[in-house]
Amino acid sequence: MIVASPLDLIFRDLFYRLPAFAGRHDVFLKLEGFNVTGSIKIKTAIELVEDLEKRGIAKPNETVLVESSSGNLGLALSLVCSIKGYRFICVTDPNANRAALRGIELYGAKVILVEERDAAGGYLGSRLKRIDQILRSNPNAVWLNQYANVANKNAHAHQTANEIAREFDQVDWVFVGTGTTGTLAGVAERLRQVFPAINVVAVEPEGSVTFGGEPGKRHIPGIGTSVRPPLADYAKPDRIVAMNEEETVKACLEFVRDYHLLVGGSTGTVLAAVRQLAPEFSRGDTIVAISPDLGEKYLDTIYDPAWVDQVIVPEDTRQERAFEFVAAD
Ligand SMILES: Cc1ncc(COP(=O)(O)O)c(C=O)c1O
Repeated sequence: MIVASPLDLIFRDLFYRLPAFAGRHDVFLKLEGFNVTGSIKIKTAIELVEDLEKRGIAKPNETVLVESSSGNLGLALSLVCSIKGYRFICVTDPNANRAALRGIELYGAKVILVEERDAAGGYLGSRLKRIDQILRSNPNAVWLNQYANVANKNAHAHQTANEIAREFDQVDWVFVGTGTTGTLAGVAERLRQVFPAINVVAVEPEGSVTFGGEPGKRHIPGIGTSVRPPLADYAKPDRIVAMNEEETVKACLEFVRDYHLLVGGSTGTVLAAVRQLAPEFSRGDTIVAISPDLGEKYLDTIYDPAWVDQVIVPEDTRQERAFEFVAAD
């Protein structure tokens, strides 16, 4: 395989078959973490920028692109912007991944960290306020707005969903973790056209308000919101499953042990949800779950026992925590 650009490094037909993952059912995990910049967000980044160019809104060497991101979209956009010749400002918060922020800077973009929590206990409201200030002070600044921009949804209808539809003759269940809900909305829209009986499952962390849940503190980046994203109006999941962060950590650790791949936190959340709904699967069902990224960037958080004890596991249950970090001898 010879590529002409880093943007060609998107692996569209990569599915990890997980034998008997959910009872007797195999599950197909769509791996997006091997894409350039390490996540599914490279597809979103390319399509968001191309959409602005098609509409004549963005011009290289002139327009300053601005976006809010917890790491993955920011890193993907910084690569796309460096290749295409746009200045880029990424507004983020303390939950964002340090290595991703360093990568964003190395690709030539500027990182702005907001540290004040919003009324719902998250940072999204504060990030959006900061973006508003940038737009008001810089006439060349354009906000990509992944939370409301239909190009985010369309990226996954055109790309992610079609990649699934090309691989399988039938899909009965698809599990999608939700942040902006772009992946969910795009995948649901397109896969329902191809497989009308499909069950689309939105997977949320507890504490996310996207589908009407009670707001609460969350620490796993990428999924969940403290402000409902407008794109969620397009996402009409058949089921919504909210997992707590302990279950996410447990699922990540079990997956590394049993399936030998270090996956990201949102993947752990999705895998925990698959197992929760397993009793509802019928014989012969094809089950697909989307893995947005891999686990290396979470070694200091989800995969660090000290961090997990301090941040995720309630103090009174720490002694009998439901999972182990290393296999017993
Ligand atoms: C690791 C990870 N998982 C899941 C998601 C959720 O994707 P979406 O924003 O399309 O809902 C994101 C989005 O940033 C992410 O970075």
